[in-house]
Amino acid sequence: MTDHRASVLIVGAGAAGLTCALQCAEFTDVTVISKGVGPDGATAYAQGGIAAASLPSDSIDQHIEDTLKAGAGLNDIEAVIRIISQAPQCVTWLSQQGVPFVKAKEDQWALGLEGGHQHPRVVHVADRTGWAISQTLRDQVNAPPKIQFLEGYMALDLIVQDQRCVGIDILTPDHTLQPWATGAVVLATGGFSAAYLHATHDHKASGDGLAMALRAGCALMDLEFNQFHPTCLYCPGQPPLLLSEALRGEGARLRLPNGEYFMKQFDADQELAPRDRVARAIDSEMKRCGLNHVLLDISHQPAEKIQARFPHLYKRCLERGFDMTQEPLPVVPAAHYSCGGVHVDSNGQTEIFNLYAVGETACTGLHGANRLASNSLLECIVTGMEVARQIQVVGFEAGTLEAVPQRFALSLSSMGSIEQHWHKLQSIMWNSVGIVRSDARLISAMEGIQVELERIPAVDKSSYLNSIEWAEYLNVLSVAAESVRSAYFRRESRGLHYTVECPQLNPMLNGQHTLIRQDWDQPRYTDKA
Ligand code: FAD
Ligand code: SIN
Repeated sequence: MTDHRASVLIVGAGAAGLTCALQCAEFTDVTVISKGVGPDGATAYAQGGIAAASLPSDSIDQHIEDTLKAGAGLNDIEAVIRIISQAPQCVTWLSQQGVPFVKAKEDQWALGLEGGHQHPRVVHVADRTGWAISQTLRDQVNAPPKIQFLEGYMALDLIVQDQRCVGIDILTPDHTLQPWATGAVVLATGGFSAAYLHATHDHKASGDGLAMALRAGCALMDLEFNQFHPTCLYCPGQPPLLLSEALRGEGARLRLPNGEYFMKQFDADQELAPRDRVARAIDSEMKRCGLNHVLLDISHQPAEKIQARFPHLYKRCLERGFDMTQEPLPVVPAAHYSCGGVHVDSNGQTEIFNLYAVGETACTGLHGANRLASNSLLECIVTGMEVARQIQVVGFEAGTLEAVPQRFALSLSSMGSIEQHWHKLQSIMWNSVGIVRSDARLISAMEGIQVELERIPAVDKSSYLNSIEWAEYLNVLSVAAESVRSAYFRRESRGLHYTVECPQLNPMLNGQHTLIRQDWDQPRYTDKA
């Protein structure tokens, strides 16, 4: 029998997990675990803000229209309507929690414009919206006595009996294994962009929730749709720094080092096209001209305006030797967001009873083949709230975990340095599963990942990994393998997935998602979102 139990256990303390925790605390006791310590996850890095129509000329219908246009025929329309319609209430709820969104006047939020949106509609806290959301929700979670918040605790695996999730194995900060008996488990672990060599954040987004769900028998959906943000500061050797799309919303232009503005040759919407199209245009120009970056220029705007609107980015760039009020900034696309995730129904329920997924971990069908900017934080808040409601309806009583066998810590030090393994995988994904794909490169990626998978000794039921880094690596490796298989399987180009063999969208595949399971030889198309 285990001494550790939780009625509701939430894995992850980003926007989705914290929202779900606060809502669950209204009706039961909750435990939140986070492998990080302090504000972390992609949430803490989010800049632009949260999309919600609020101008008199704007409407929820137009926000829905933009979301569907970006999603390129793969969105689940029911999910889009459900989630986007709740955007204004979500902003109000966050504001009530204490998030200090900027106002333009007494009864109107200050709104940013981002790619793919027909109106300014991105509510923000200057250029550090995610940090403000993270801090505020963490303060709230630490307040009520009904929430136990354990930082530095990593979920390793789900305990499933007869298709019901009854518990979870947790690695504690002292590297021991703690099995917990649970009523309901919510996976809120973010995405898997850390599979790529260049990403917009250095948080370990290693797809742990996806990997755990996959091992437990759940289906993962649409894993080929990895979003690359067009503009990450090019500054080799330094931690990544995203340059928010809101800069382009305020007039920043993309150009080549020779001064030529190139977006107009690629897209009628130019710098404000959806980001798949902007990232592909940059990639194409970099390859055509043999460049290692292009330039993003906002220096034509008044310096005071730039400093007031982007205080964080202005300061971070200055620290790296770039004054954005005076000069263009070198930029490259970088891995940013995982549109695919654990397949869930409209209540966030996975295929395993008592197991839910929220936020970037889940594939709700909102984003389809390409996420519209600033729709992710929105999805985190909505799905966090919805799952809490569903848990209340379904129930959440923790049972007992009987006869938990003793397990022995497994060291993989014989495998060599963990950094080398990470670097190898990240290079494979960056070079072969990037913005423009081909069959030959995807096959070579599959082979490279297979070699890595075969080198790893089995972590069987008598052992557990007591190294966070190795556990993360095995998770990201298994999710990356499925992402490559999904990319190879989809015989068309759509949204974020572009492949040279099939450069056109295939209308027969409208609404056809890729679904994969661990025991399937290859993914399958399904129209169930
Ligand atoms: P995350 O915020 O990633 O949190 C994951 C949590 O899970 C963390 O607490 C982590 O420690 C924990 N965790 C992971 N694995 C485990 C494990 N095994 N055990 C225990 N804990 C675990 N979206 C927008 O809508 N607007 C924006 O302006 C915006 N800007 C962005 C800027 C950047 C640089 C990035 C990277 C993303 C941005 N996004 C934006 C996307 C958005 O921030 C994320 O999709 C969203 O924050 C994801 O939230 P989440 O709660 O699902 O996961
Ligand atoms: C940004 O600020 O450009 C990021 C917005 C997003 O990823 O939604």
